[in-house]
Amino acid sequence: MKIWAIIALLALASLPIRAETVLITGSNRGLGLELATQYAADGWIVIATARSPADDEALQNLAAKYETVRIEALDVTDHAQIDALATQLRGTPIDVLINNAGVLGDPNIQRLGNLDFSIAHQLFETNTLGPLKIADAFIEHVALSQTKKIMNISSIVGSITLTGGNIYFYRASKTALNMMMRNFAKDTASGGLVIGMIHPGVVDTDMSAPFDIPKVSVRESATGVRDVIGWYTQATSGTFMQYTGEPMAW
Ligand SMILES: NC(=O)c1ccc[n+]([C@@H]2O[C@H](COP(=O)([O-])OP(=O)(O)OC[C@H]3O[C@@H](n4cnc5c(N)ncnc54)[C@H](OP(=O)(O)O)[C@@H]3O)[C@@H](O)[C@H]2O)c1
Repeated sequence: MKIWAIIALLALASLPIRAETVLITGSNRGLGLELATQYAADGWIVIATARSPADDEALQNLAAKYETVRIEALDVTDHAQIDALATQLRGTPIDVLINNAGVLGDPNIQRLGNLDFSIAHQLFETNTLGPLKIADAFIEHVALSQTKKIMNISSIVGSITLTGGNIYFYRASKTALNMMMRNFAKDTASGGLVIGMIHPGVVDTDMSAPFDIPKVSVRESATGVRDVIGWYTQATSGTFMQYTGEPMAW
């Protein structure tokens, strides 16, 4: 090998490798906390957002354990707060942005004969409009990064093909999230952004507590979700996947 090639290789090897950055919403419990924990353990810079982080002991403990975990307050329904955080982080590349925060609402008031329309607004603001607002506010941060991914935790219950009745508002909020993000993928493809919608499985968290059905652990789900995030490419941007890597029916 020529001497100049050896020098170039040595120079490359001495360059600091930039750690990747992930921003996660709703990272104080459930799937979001596990995702934050796994990314931090893998050496990522984690911007862990939660709506009232001062009260979140598990999240505070995570930040105490890993100096790469930075906690920021973020209510995904508060558009002024989203804009303020985007401004505060201007110039910070975000490799992976994960819209994870979500609410199910009481399933008993989302069935025929007992529909409480007042909760529909909260579900749509949190599960659908919040993720779109965040994705839009952070486009430049994601575009500045190497990886350029915006990933959305969707749900099998938002699948029109597979619907089984009941939980009207939650289902529709996830179906609408999928439409918003498929549309978003079309609009940002030329900028190289990669957009994903992922069903994380029926996960053993507070959210799935009302349902007596088989569940996967948060660890298994988050591991699968992270793998799928890694597998997304520009060619698969705008698709709906399961945490196992299989395609999900719309
Ligand atoms: N668990 C399942 O079986 C399942 C299945 C399919 C999809 N999902 C989806 O997976 C995601 C994570 O759910 P999970 O199972 O981890 O549920 P979870 O344990 O109930 O956690 C929900 C998270 O969302 C946060 N959140 C709710 N409203 C918010 C708001 N306005 N602003 C900021 N954060 C807010 C919660 O924060 P607080 O502590 O402040 O409430 C909490 O951190 C959700 O999008 C959910 O729809 C879950």
